Amino acid sequence: MQRYHFKTNTAEETKLLAQQLAAQLKPGDVLAMRGNLASGKTTFTQGITSYYEVREFALSPTFTYINEYHGNKNQEIVHIDAYRLKSGAELISMGIWEYYDSGAIIIIEWADIVADAIPEDAFGFHFRHVDDDENGREILINSPRVLEFKL
Ligand SMILES: Nc1ncnc2c1ncn2[C@@H]1O[C@H](COP(=O)(O)OP(=O)(O)OP(=O)(O)O)[C@@H](O)[C@H]1O
Ligand SMILES: [Mg+2]
Repeated sequence: MQRYHFKTNTAEETKLLAQQLAAQLKPGDVLAMRGNLASGKTTFTQGITSYYEVREFALSPTFTYINEYHGNKNQEIVHIDAYRLKSGAELISMGIWEYYDSGAIIIIEWADIVADAIPEDAFGFHFRHVDDDENGREILINSPRVLEFKL
């Protein structure tokens, strides 16, 4: 695993970072996101969907659990919010393995809740609020392969 550590100062910066990551993603990649409420998971996801020129706005799928987006380059993106789930078993009963095998890029918010249904070679993201800095966020990325970022 490769580790990358960033601090962003605005939601826009978080989206720019996400776009740089998106350019390096491959079909079938799984992005497992952890972090508190409003720490930036959906904002980062919006950066990824904008890279793939998805027209819909990536809303937090808290009430629907799963949103599917059709990106350019024929890339499907599946955005899952596990906040209201209880365990990985629930995700498995929702057919997560078919999604993993589909070639879609899979983004899972609140991955800690469904940790037992996350593949070992997933990207791990940890989002954190920075103390005394309303718009500061720390973003840790554990990547199964080497990435390049220009900041
Ligand atoms: N540096 C930053 N990076 C990301 N978001 C930021 C930043 N600074 C401020 N924000 C704001 O913080 C909020 C982050 O909300 P977001 O929906 O992305 O969080 P989330 O982690 O998905 O939360 P939830 O667990 O509720 O789904 C947004 O309102 C965004 O504009
Ligand atoms: Mg969210």
